Amino acid sequence: MNEDKVKIKILDTQGNCKELWVEVGSNLREVLLRNQFSLYQGKFKTLNCKGMGVCGSCKIIVRERDEDWERRACQIQCFQDLEIRLK
Ligand code: FES
Repeated sequence: MNEDKVKIKILDTQGNCKELWVEVGSNLREVLLRNQFSLYQGKFKTLNCKGMGVCGSCKIIVRERDEDWERRACQIQCFQDLEIRLK
């Protein structure tokens, strides 16, 4: 286990699963975009707030304690292992 990194388990919209190891404190939106995940749909691919937290177009599902939570990826800093599902 690397203490400087956390594991992000990502289930995409086609049902494919991928795991990434990222630096602790990484911004989830930036991680997803840097790894070519389709975070935005339709017009929001260009018309989004670029991570300012106001447009809501970067919503994902975070699996936590056996429950699904809808969250904005741009507002998540990765300080622990995460399991997410893209919408
Ligand atoms: S990018 Fe607009 S709320 Fe996250």
